[in-house]
Amino acid sequence: MRLPEPYKIKMVEPIHLLPKEERKKRLQAAGLNVFALKAEDVFIDLLTDSGTNAMSDNQWSGMMIGDESYAGCRNFYHLQDTVKDVFGYNYVVPTHQGRGAENSFFSILIKPGQYVIGNMHFDTTEAHIHLKKGIPVNLVIDDAFDTSKYHPFKGNVDLDKLEHFIDEKGAENIAFMLITITCNTAGGQPVSMENIREVSRICKEHKIPVYIDAARFAENAYFIKTREEGYADKSIAEIVKEMFSYAEGFTMSAKKDALVNIGGMIGIKDNEELYNRVREINISFEGFPTYGGLAGRDLEAIARGLKEVLDIDYLRARIGQVEYLGKMLTDAGIPIQTPVGGHAVFVNAGKFLPHIDHEQFPGEALAAELYLESGVRAVEIGTCMMGRDAEGKNIIAPMELMRLTIPRRVYTDNHMNYVAESLINIYNRRDNVRGLKFAYEPPILRHFLAKFEWA
Ligand code: F0G
Repeated sequence: MRLPEPYKIKMVEPIHLLPKEERKKRLQAAGLNVFALKAEDVFIDLLTDSGTNAMSDNQWSGMMIGDESYAGCRNFYHLQDTVKDVFGYNYVVPTHQGRGAENSFFSILIKPGQYVIGNMHFDTTEAHIHLKKGIPVNLVIDDAFDTSKYHPFKGNVDLDKLEHFIDEKGAENIAFMLITITCNTAGGQPVSMENIREVSRICKEHKIPVYIDAARFAENAYFIKTREEGYADKSIAEIVKEMFSYAEGFTMSAKKDALVNIGGMIGIKDNEELYNRVREINISFEGFPTYGGLAGRDLEAIARGLKEVLDIDYLRARIGQVEYLGKMLTDAGIPIQTPVGGHAVFVNAGKFLPHIDHEQFPGEALAAELYLESGVRAVEIGTCMMGRDAEGKNIIAPMELMRLTIPRRVYTDNHMNYVAESLINIYNRRDNVRGLKFAYEPPILRHFLAKFEWA
């Protein structure tokens, strides 16, 4: 039997479903781009799991004891102790969010022309690698791109590809390895402990430092516990410690698995010199090293969230809910990335709408249709998001996905039922969903501010 959530609801926030005619007007005013909708025009918001978490009473009470001193606030020391305890790392530098951590850390780590290898970098990660004149390289296993194939750890680094890449380019031309857990871009897919261990071993042999993009570290640990041999009897806390023992440091968007609404950090295991360099550079970008762009109360909420997220009952309910939504969709024949990831169901919009060409953005078209049908907001992860190459051609995404991203502790299974029913309604009349074309195409990061018309 599936156990319910290990918490009850103490405060609610009303949401409203606009009538269909009104939704149509608002979507048209938004240029058919769900990013341009006002949040209050959305009924169920599955745009992202980032910063959309519901905090606990324990976290809210921690907000009240925020120490808002410029330097040395007590909440920083609580966070530092927590990072030591949870990850086994000596040092932490707070940042305002994940990309702030990427900006500061990568400024130190990347020399122009160097490669930054990983399973599959997130888009802000890739952008920051480019900004430092590095070259991002994705070495995820090929199975990640076959949405219908079951693989328990589709976020794994392909070890053959890794060895070949190092041999071909030379270790001295590789700045570092970044393992993203779970791998968002591949569909919230986990990386196995064995893979993290092997990647670390290979990189160590070549003196390539290994870092972790830790945004969804606890969800990754849950998958290791439930899917990997030898870990069923280990606690999430033990698994997390082992995962991080194979790396030298991490960047983290706290907006995911720290169960807060804003924040980020850089963690460093034991390299004091690196820590000092990070602290220095971070002052210009994020602020003094004991606050890093955050209020004392935010640091307290993060420290408390990092502990709460290790609760196995919480993780079982959390990922169970994502699986519950995924199962309703697969039972109806809707193609999704299988198995479902930790934070989202990734619908294969390319297969859902085979009559819509890549360059008419099936993921965007499906997201627009879903809003019209139901007031639910999802997000495209596909060719629109990929942008254009140096010659100005659309970079065709390996998978045209629409992500139904589930905020943590926010929605109930009834909300999931409604989302599934709405999408199934569209699936039953999918032939009449139309593709999109640009009415306005921004030069960079076009998916955020683009305007579309029906093709
Ligand atoms: N790394 C990963 C794996 C992420 O998923 C994100 C953000 C970041 C880094 C950047 O962190 O937003 O705090 O600056 N992902 C969000 C998403 C935005 O919707 O998937 P940030």
